[in-house]
Amino acid sequence: MSELNRIPVILDGDPGHDDAIAWVLAQASPRIDIRAVTSCAGNQTIEKTTYNARRICTLLGITAPIAMGRPRPLLADPITAGNVHGQSGLDGPKLPEPAMELCGLTAVELMARVLRESGEPVTIVSTGPQTNVAALLLAHPELKEKIARISLMGGGIAYGNWTPAAEFNILVDPEAAQTVFASGVPVQMAGLDVTERALIFAEDVERIRAVDNQVAHVVAEWLEFFYRFHREVGYEGAPLHDPCAVAGLLRPDLFTMKDLYVEVETEGEYCRGATVGAADGWNGHAANARCLLDVDRAGFVELLVEAVHAYDGWEVRI
Ligand code: RIB
Ligand code: CA
Repeated sequence: MSELNRIPVILDGDPGHDDAIAWVLAQASPRIDIRAVTSCAGNQTIEKTTYNARRICTLLGITAPIAMGRPRPLLADPITAGNVHGQSGLDGPKLPEPAMELCGLTAVELMARVLRESGEPVTIVSTGPQTNVAALLLAHPELKEKIARISLMGGGIAYGNWTPAAEFNILVDPEAAQTVFASGVPVQMAGLDVTERALIFAEDVERIRAVDNQVAHVVAEWLEFFYRFHREVGYEGAPLHDPCAVAGLLRPDLFTMKDLYVEVETEGEYCRGATVGAADGWNGHAANARCLLDVDRAGFVELLVEAVHAYDGWEVRI
């Protein structure tokens, strides 16, 4: 960590309501130094997630360079989630038009530049499919040692969501996910095991709205949109997936974690995209992922409320 004890971070995501809230958390924290933002295809097409990334950065005052990621998974055909996040990928509240252009590099080129230029290893917070991260590892293996850790939202040791076996981010690009888990770079995995316990209820939304600044109102509307969808499909509350990839860095004390050996199923008619976890040392394999398995939900909500307060007095033209 730098002299300010800040964690240098690259945010890679497919915003996406929960990606956006993960970025709210990251930008609010004085302990996180956002060095770059890269979009990936997932919740929506790369064009839409990139536009959303620029709008979110404008809303939050994130001034780090932004680059567009790869338009398609490494091998798989694209899958999008318009049924969850809407046709824009970020339906709901009105957002500012982007105040910044893209930096002119590809996501992999920008990630590589940040890693090369950093005086210390950089954490990658990845909240979408692992396509860009895997492409970075394949194109620049020499930069692995400059990656402190990959804190990702993805997978589920016990179950999936897009299929019974596979979680969406992993299923979109299983080959990329397996590349990441097998890379030797430390992985912190916020899978469905923990994210479906990081539930947000109506009263939590009202607490965030009551913070009563511009970001608070936008976050409350994102949560309401996300909550409505999940209630309709049978969830008790809104599982706040992606913010767990940031919260797990900032407040590991809120989480129950276990080091496991994780492999990604890339074959299989029914199980493609499953993240299969085994105990450290199983069959001679050392653990390759710190898996978040449970969360202090009340503490997690407090962290979100505190983060939204960080935007008191901040406002942009919408
Ligand atoms: O399965 C949940 C994940 O898929 C989250 O990252 C959400 O944003 C979507 O990308
Ligand atoms: Ca996401």
